[in-house]
Amino acid sequence: MSANLLYLSADAVRRALPMREAIEAMRDAFAQLARGEVALPLRLRLDAPSDRGAALVMPSHSTSEKLFSLKMVSVFHDNPQRGLPTIQSVVILTDGSTGTHLAILEGASLTAIRTGAASGLATDLLARPDAAAAAIFGAGVQARTQLEALCAVRPIRRARVHDIEPALAERFAAEMTERLGIPVEPAATPAKNLEDADAVCTATPSCTPLFADSEVPPGAHINAVGAYRPDMVEVPAATVCRARVVVDHRASALEEAGDLIAPLRSGLIGEGHISAELGEIVLGRKTGRRAADEITLFKSVGVAIQDLCAAARALASARQLGLGTPIHS
Ligand SMILES: NC(=O)c1ccc[n+]([C@@H]2O[C@H](COP(=O)([O-])OP(=O)(O)OC[C@H]3O[C@@H](n4cnc5c(N)ncnc54)[C@H](O)[C@@H]3O)[C@@H](O)[C@H]2O)c1
Repeated sequence: MSANLLYLSADAVRRALPMREAIEAMRDAFAQLARGEVALPLRLRLDAPSDRGAALVMPSHSTSEKLFSLKMVSVFHDNPQRGLPTIQSVVILTDGSTGTHLAILEGASLTAIRTGAASGLATDLLARPDAAAAAIFGAGVQARTQLEALCAVRPIRRARVHDIEPALAERFAAEMTERLGIPVEPAATPAKNLEDADAVCTATPSCTPLFADSEVPPGAHINAVGAYRPDMVEVPAATVCRARVVVDHRASALEEAGDLIAPLRSGLIGEGHISAELGEIVLGRKTGRRAADEITLFKSVGVAIQDLCAAARALASARQLGLGTPIHS
């Protein structure tokens, strides 16, 4: 083990990686992916069905940054009732030219920041420039960084949040109003949540659509981050069919994104309906929004190069700021 190995706790990760920095790290991550500089095996999922959970193993290699990363993340949906977080994780960052392990990072905080940041980047590339009203579905961990990311890229003046647990929506609204300095209100129904919304984020483990297609306002941009298995769905098939669909990574989306797999299997759309990977838009190879009233949908399942680029940026900034705990062999 290297004497330089650094451990970054959740607090250190958050201090080392503010949202705007994280969005730039995601711009870099998706550009590298589109340029073919990344080895990104489909993630390995080990299900623990009797405990309603799974472990996901996510490695990546960036040839341009000469770095490896490995994330071990577990997702247990009954954990909130046990007083534990749904997602627990660590990320290991390794030098790609010597194999020296550089850092171990608390992965749940890194995941929440990079998942928010990917939606922030997508919103920057796809939402109307004047998007001012946000609607968030789910009031959990990802929902917080989703809203934070929207506020980093658009002049968001108000937000609503809907959760199947109204008390969680109330708590989210109070906390985020205080943190972001804009009014955030709980919405009793999905329809109320979407009323006049310009930018929408869905961050739930739902297996049924969260709203009706007719409730989506013209010109809205949607970031759908929750569904990472074929049986999970947040966005109605009718919305997917009429939206301009952008994904984080085509191969991963076709394997995991329930929102897209359901309409693909039923023949409502073909694979050509996925108009771009986010990185292709970053590089200017594909266009983003084409009309003010178009519905745009960024479907993310989360890919390991996001963890690598977020971890690399967090480590560089932690070294500068003197954050983290050295681990000696
Ligand atoms: N795309 C990515 O990169 C990425 C990254 C991390 C997590 N995720 C996924 O995002 C989802 C949310 O993760 P989290 O960490 O925020 O979980 P969480 O448990 O902290 O929050 C989920 C929230 O959704 C609410 N909810 C459940 N069903 C709902 C419904 N039908 N309508 C409204 N609200 C509902 C729950 O009450 C809870 O408050 C999970 O499925 C997770 O696996 C995706």
